[in-house]
Amino acid sequence: MEVVIRQHEQQCGATAADIFADAVTSGATTLGLATGSSPLSVYHELIRRHRKEGLSFAGAQAFLLDEYVGLPPSHPQSYAHVIRAEFTNHIDIDSGRVHSPNGIADDIFTAADEYDAQIAAAGPVDVQLLGIGGNGHIGFNEPGSSLASRTRVKTLTEQTRRDNARFFAGIDEVPRHVITQGLGTICDARHLVLIATGGHKAEAIAAAVEGPLTASCPASVLQLHRHVTVVVDDAAAGQLKNADFYRYALKHKPPQQKY
Ligand code: F6R
Repeated sequence: MEVVIRQHEQQCGATAADIFADAVTSGATTLGLATGSSPLSVYHELIRRHRKEGLSFAGAQAFLLDEYVGLPPSHPQSYAHVIRAEFTNHIDIDSGRVHSPNGIADDIFTAADEYDAQIAAAGPVDVQLLGIGGNGHIGFNEPGSSLASRTRVKTLTEQTRRDNARFFAGIDEVPRHVITQGLGTICDARHLVLIATGGHKAEAIAAAVEGPLTASCPASVLQLHRHVTVVVDDAAAGQLKNADFYRYALKHKPPQQKY
């Protein structure tokens, strides 16, 4: 795991965008996308590079991490809608190749299995972007999620519903259930890039990076993956015991070594 500490959110976005741009220009075709606030700086930078530098996603397909149960893709807060509004409508990826779980399927349990199988058939995901919840969730794998889990229906914690209420008219409108890629599904991706900014993420980042491997902090499963880049700003790095070493290692990184 490489921990990259930057001063500001915009710099974090640029670093994660470097990784995605590098992957796409080296032939990566399968991208894993996240929603929420954390990836926005990455998407802004990738859109800028698409417009100004000709970065092309024409050959790519994308898979979202999760979707709310009960929200149709036309709902402004469904993740299928959010990812198009925030990112994929502004680049040259084929919108029909931007995939997400079907949160309005008659049988959401089968829909979850099918999404997992679809990723397995099309994948592996070359590079997967992740945010992290204040309780250590990635995707919507809340504490207690099996570290080997596959895509399935999960119940959100009340904390996560409160956190996400800012996107809705109020907490009562935040769905209770989601379909989320499992931790095992996420870890099938070749390269995981977790981005977190702000002091409210510091405890979760410390637990994920330096805490014990435990289902109580689902993001700690990253410690088992072969290729992880954690991109954080100074505030989100605030509780990392080894922050000085991560900064030292970055400063002395061999020039030819990529993220
Ligand atoms: C979103 C997702 C979640 C968020 C996490 C952080 O697709 O899977 O794990 O990444 O809840 O959300 P923000 O970035 O809004 O703080």
